[in-house]
Amino acid sequence: MEPLEIIKNPQSKENIIEQLQDFKKFMMMYSCAIKEVRTKFEVLNDELSVSSNRNPIQMIKSRIKSPISIIEKLERKEYEVSMHSILTNLNDVAGVRIICSFINDIYDIADMFSSQDDITVLKIKDYIKNPKPNGYRSYHMIVEIPVFFAECKKDLKVEVQLRTIAMDFWASLEHSMKYKKDIENTEQIMKELKSCADLIAKTDLHMQNINNKIAMA
Ligand code: GTP
Ligand code: MG
Repeated sequence: MEPLEIIKNPQSKENIIEQLQDFKKFMMMYSCAIKEVRTKFEVLNDELSVSSNRNPIQMIKSRIKSPISIIEKLERKEYEVSMHSILTNLNDVAGVRIICSFINDIYDIADMFSSQDDITVLKIKDYIKNPKPNGYRSYHMIVEIPVFFAECKKDLKVEVQLRTIAMDFWASLEHSMKYKKDIENTEQIMKELKSCADLIAKTDLHMQNINNKIAMA
């Protein structure tokens, strides 16, 4: 029986403790994958700040999916609830979000990161070129990165989202709506959010153009 199934259907106290220990180790591996990815972006930012006086990354955020959300997602998608199933079926246990100043920075940084030879890009969703109908914009990548432990090497998946400061501001406000059940005028709010998203996209482009002019002067 797979470990998480045992947790859901406990047989003995020893069993539960042992399996919880395994699960803790499993989540630790994902948090190490996050550290590896964060470091790669930090290195790129440090290098660019010295070599071309740019500071493309404003902030890096990261998170590990909670055990509850992991199980709920597996059940929702009708996958087996087990560690093996998490490894193969879930792409977003480890998540890293890169907040940039300008849209060009997003593509430059994503290219530099993707072309590193220990990074395998499994999937790209460009919601900047193809925004979602609600106005959501960001550049998403699912990557696999090797992490070296005492006795083994594990290839782990990490979801990387790159967006501008303004896109991030918008996404947090839009996300906060998902947790409220009884909002009045949901449709009106969605319309307003969509128009803010479009305005933000225009402003991001405008800021990019101004920055290009300043850089060329
Ligand atoms: P899941 O939604 O994670 O099952 O996968 P997916 O295949 O739909 O992935 P997608 O790349 O579309 O979205 C992954 C993540 O991007 C989400 O978990 C959010 O963090 C973010 N995201 C995607 N769409 C939206 C959106 O409309 N609004 C906000 N605020 N965040 C979004
Ligand atoms: Mg997700």
